[in-house]
Amino acid sequence: MNKPADLPLAAHEHEDTNTSSNPSFETVLAARLSRRGLLRGSVGTATAALLGGFSLAACGGGDDDITVAPPAPPVAPTETLMSFSAVSKSLEDKMTVPTGYTASILLATGDPLAAGVAAAKNDGTDSGYDRRVGDDHDGMEYFGLSATGTPDAANNDRALLGMNFEYINPLFLHAAGPTANPRPAAQTDIEVDCHGVGIIEIAKTAGKFGYVQASTFNRRITPLTPIDISGPARGHPLLVTKFSPTGTRTRGTLNNCGTGKTPWGTLLTGEENWAGYFFRPAGDQALRTAKANTALARYERNATATAAAASRYGWETAGTDDKYARWNISASGASATGSDDYRHEMNAQGYVTEIDPYSATSVIKKRSALGRMAHESAAFGKPVVGKPLAVYMGDDARNEYIFKFVSTQNWVAADATAADRVATGDKYLDSGKLYAAKFNADGTGAWVELSMANAAITGYANYAFADNGDVAMHSRIAGDAVGATKMDRPEWCAVNPTTGEIYYTLTNNSNRRIGAVTGSQLNPDAANPRVYTDIRGASTVQSGNPNGHIIRIKENASEPTATAFTWDIYLFGAEANSPTGIINLSGLTADQDLSSPDGLVFSASTGLCWVQTDDGAYTDVTNCMMLAAVPGTVGDGGPVTLDYGSGNTVTTRVGKKPTPTTLKRFLVGPVEQEITGLCETPDGKVLFVNVQHPGEGTAFSAIADPTKYTSHWPGNAGYGVGGANARPRSATVMIVKDNGLRVGS
Ligand code: FEO
Ligand code: CA
Ligand code: CA
Ligand code: CA
Repeated sequence: MNKPADLPLAAHEHEDTNTSSNPSFETVLAARLSRRGLLRGSVGTATAALLGGFSLAACGGGDDDITVAPPAPPVAPTETLMSFSAVSKSLEDKMTVPTGYTASILLATGDPLAAGVAAAKNDGTDSGYDRRVGDDHDGMEYFGLSATGTPDAANNDRALLGMNFEYINPLFLHAAGPTANPRPAAQTDIEVDCHGVGIIEIAKTAGKFGYVQASTFNRRITPLTPIDISGPARGHPLLVTKFSPTGTRTRGTLNNCGTGKTPWGTLLTGEENWAGYFFRPAGDQALRTAKANTALARYERNATATAAAASRYGWETAGTDDKYARWNISASGASATGSDDYRHEMNAQGYVTEIDPYSATSVIKKRSALGRMAHESAAFGKPVVGKPLAVYMGDDARNEYIFKFVSTQNWVAADATAADRVATGDKYLDSGKLYAAKFNADGTGAWVELSMANAAITGYANYAFADNGDVAMHSRIAGDAVGATKMDRPEWCAVNPTTGEIYYTLTNNSNRRIGAVTGSQLNPDAANPRVYTDIRGASTVQSGNPNGHIIRIKENASEPTATAFTWDIYLFGAEANSPTGIINLSGLTADQDLSSPDGLVFSASTGLCWVQTDDGAYTDVTNCMMLAAVPGTVGDGGPVTLDYGSGNTVTTRVGKKPTPTTLKRFLVGPVEQEITGLCETPDGKVLFVNVQHPGEGTAFSAIADPTKYTSHWPGNAGYGVGGANARPRSATVMIVKDNGLRVGS
């Protein structure tokens, strides 16, 4: 009852705006497939082969001539990666890790991050979140810190965690839940401050990490923090606002989802679903050029003469102060430039933003050269001295694209420890080429340059790009112009440190259809080949590709500057007992099955690939989870043809099927959460993961009755106050193996 009318249930969902006419590779038709109409239990048999796991044991040995026996050395346990017992699927309101492991909570939403800030009461009365842990923890990176407070990448005992706070669960942030529009300023200030990024010092005491409340390194970056715009969009007329008449600055970073870590030790944070925060009134179209209206629609802020684009939380209604007015992007001012209103305010969100974690006063920069989209992670290819750096990225919305940025400057080894990390970012991230990916049906692909040097960009009929700043600000539209491949929602990407191959989770896509399509619906293609129906619970039917897949790319000659690549699909999400012909193409067993892969991180220590889920399809059977994987290489499987009946087929490329020791469920989280974000100590012995929005499905009408909260985690695990009746909180969890070996063994 307190819920504002415009608060959506799933604030991380997206509109469909990609209605460009890029072709699909296959013409596929007919036969709608009902999964439950086929036999369940026809699991593939290819998972029977057992690999021994890799033994990375205990070196030791030696053949010295020793005549007198020395004291016996301590016997180190032998380490075998992937030897843990798989965790079962679970609907319990707790975190489950394998036998022999311990998960404990490091910090949770509302915890104080400065001296003198009171402990979280977690009853909806906490405030001052610009000095507290924010909400909806997401991507996270580890920055080692020496005893004297200098950067020390190898330090296992002291570090700064750089952590995203993606969005909010407003119900639990206020004593009686959020109030409808016009939003109270006090509630709005809390909600705004719960967003952004945290830099948080952690240190070991008696061998166990805790966070350091009073650390001078601690920093909260919120949607109000001043941030510079750098790269080709800096100073662009489309960034002129009342706050920044020169178009060089803005306030805040917003809806921060995936992360990245630069080779010079800074944090990259991806701004994802930022569009929905801005209110665009009905009738604003008439105040804009046709070009501006095209751009606003493509970036999810369409409005008509009679219908506004409503904002997610109504912050623009909280008062006349400029910090609220900025959320209304109406071209209401008298100026021709936009210097007296916020018509361009949204153009300052949607970037990869770089933060130097080692200085709480460092200048923060939006790296516009890396494009503007619903950014997830930003993953560097392996740096090679004397060659440009490649950064891989995805645009997470249905039918959007995969991108690569290649620096102009060649990598210099000494820059890894450069004292001025912001200047190093300027060097590598402000100048370069941006590309979008095309996946061909034959297993090859191409990176297509998005710049004014490409005739497909300058000649695009639907949008007249003015310059490379315009291209950077509208990289979605640039992807349309070059006919990039529409993907099943690119979430995280990560680079395999062993092979250099690039993995992308494609979390799901409800738009895929067989046969005639309308609007934003698409036929399947080789890189996004599945169309099927999933039943959730008793009757909810989800069509398209509800379980998602993981695609991977091998650059030609392993070159960061390659404009051609090969690809295959490493893994298809599926329920274990779903049919193998269309759905369970990877032959997943009950210890391996997953739906909607999202977070994806390779361990620099063990080389294991950690896969996290953000699911809404299999959640009738299990809470979201994390799995450990030992992937192979592009091309280790082969072509597979999906038969949709009536002679209609799609041929894709499927990687070698996993075995019981190359893919295994490692943890399952509490109710209605998402596992997302992962980092580790350099020795691989402490793994940090984030648990986002437990209990997010709690009815707004239930706020006064804690027994009706769908989750009480982590209070019910003994963290903070509230116990079994606690309000649920997003939290950061640390996981160790009890025998002291690396996580994943
Ligand atoms: Fe914030 Fe696309 O997940
Ligand atoms: Ca299902
Ligand atoms: Ca995500
Ligand atoms: Ca997601």
